[in-house]
Amino acid sequence: MSLHQLASLPEITADTSMNKPADQSRMDRIVSLAKRRGFIFQSSEIYGGLNGFWDYGPLGVALKRNLKECWWQDMVAGHDELATLTGAPSPYEMTGLDCTIIMHPQVWKCSGHFDLFHDWMVDCRESKRRYRYDHLQGRWASYREQKVFVTTDISGDDAAADLVGRAQKFFKLRAKQVDEIVWSGEVVPLAGTTPAEAIPLPEALGPDAAEPGTLTEPREFNLMFETRIGALAGDDDDRAFLRPETAQGIFVNFKNVLDTSRVRVPFGIGQIGKSFRNEITPRNFTFRSREFEQMEIEFFCRPDDSRAWYQFWRDRRWKWYLNLGLTEGRLQLREHHAAELAHYSCGTADIEYAFPFLADGEYGELEGIAHRGDFDLRSHMEGKLVRQDGELVLETGPDGKPRHRGSGRDLSYFDDVTRERFVPHVIEPSAGADRAVLAFLCDAYHEDNVPDENGKPRERTVLKLHPRLAPLKAAILPLVKKDGMPEVAIDLYKRLKKRMPCMYDAKGSVGRRYARQDEAGTPWCLTIDGQTMTDNTVTLRDRDSLTQERVPIGECVDLLTERLQ
Ligand code: GAP
Repeated sequence: MSLHQLASLPEITADTSMNKPADQSRMDRIVSLAKRRGFIFQSSEIYGGLNGFWDYGPLGVALKRNLKECWWQDMVAGHDELATLTGAPSPYEMTGLDCTIIMHPQVWKCSGHFDLFHDWMVDCRESKRRYRYDHLQGRWASYREQKVFVTTDISGDDAAADLVGRAQKFFKLRAKQVDEIVWSGEVVPLAGTTPAEAIPLPEALGPDAAEPGTLTEPREFNLMFETRIGALAGDDDDRAFLRPETAQGIFVNFKNVLDTSRVRVPFGIGQIGKSFRNEITPRNFTFRSREFEQMEIEFFCRPDDSRAWYQFWRDRRWKWYLNLGLTEGRLQLREHHAAELAHYSCGTADIEYAFPFLADGEYGELEGIAHRGDFDLRSHMEGKLVRQDGELVLETGPDGKPRHRGSGRDLSYFDDVTRERFVPHVIEPSAGADRAVLAFLCDAYHEDNVPDENGKPRERTVLKLHPRLAPLKAAILPLVKKDGMPEVAIDLYKRLKKRMPCMYDAKGSVGRRYARQDEAGTPWCLTIDGQTMTDNTVTLRDRDSLTQERVPIGECVDLLTERLQ
């Protein structure tokens, strides 16, 4: 999705027929591992943290860099423009960009973000808490003479239990009296599915309030972070914004790329970079952050091929997640309903993951693949567009002048083979790097039992990350710190380090060292033991299968390089 409008497009979707509570305790254990092992820390933690901002620690930064590197290699740098990939209408080219975070303010006026990129929020006068209006839902409850619309900001099946608890508290009932509450109607959004169905706020009991009527009228809230440019910044003309998506940098550079490289339509431009959204309710660990990274492709094609390219990118991006090891059963590809589509979009599909913090049957968005037509290039040529009678037209103000003027530059494309000029259509696969890291962490997290060095079962926590994603690919472990083993291990470590990230670890029992590597997601351990000193072989332990094979020490580096690929 791109532009949030009143009925904000859902980042979390649900098949409510099968809802079971979220596995919060599993999620808590994942968050605790992420902190304990240095994957993810709260930003500015020593000052109490900052809501919606996260830092990546030593293992986390490696995991995230590996993920972005896989994306860049698989989508951009390693793309073979001479081959016709399965499902693609033709060969295509790929190139890249790295644009600024702060762009000319007119960019956001023409893209629509200035006017439309907002959520609606409500404040609770009593609890001083703020909620996204579209995130509140509830149900009418009566007890004796009193009737109130009880609300919650919890989704899924947990919502029903939460509503009961809140109603019990409001009516001041004991647990055994809960059945005396009379519920009417279903659980419905506070905002209603249409404005006419919105629940009157004086009758709504806010999620953290003791009395009804404490929620303020919904207010529009633009999600773009504002800043000022220049030392003398003061008036409105100096207002600038931190980009809420990387995409616009690509559109405004479309002509530059065409003029300075050999790419011809169809081609794609990829970009990885930070985006910022002043989310009203950042939550679920890094899932909804205020500062995050996106990995976006804008793919430019002929209008008549655009449907086929849309289909191609949906399938290609879906397979990318599977190839890197996400469990297929926890992923879903969801085509948006017509009502959910942004006003310029001809089709959008989301790739979604069943995160453990969501109830069973709920999925959180990892990536959106959108067919954006010629909306973006035309907006930056002509000015802000709106849909009228099915057509995109320039939005005008009361004076009949364009509401937001475009650049006036010609962003059309001349096909020198067919001798045609047209504005290319765009397919946009837009992924979140932080959400992907979170999904891969959650998916990789396993708890099992393995025999220790004495054959006794020991509980272990292991991250079964794909070797391409694993922060460390191997650990080199001398069994003991004597008999020449450390020297042999250090020599192997130095040779392997030139090919891949690995570590030397001689501290503690070998079982403890394996356990440390399992938690870090290291796929292979190479142990130098007594036998190494006699026959030059080492033990290669596989994190997932737990098999241990003897490998000649001289072959280790090539063998692991091969397995990594
Ligand atoms: N250019 C299109 C665009 O930005 P989007 O669906 O708003 O579309 C794309 O964002 C992806 O960026 C999402 O699928 C998600 O992975 C990630 N993303 C969006 N908002 C985010 C947030 N607040 N925190 C973390 N990731 C976010």
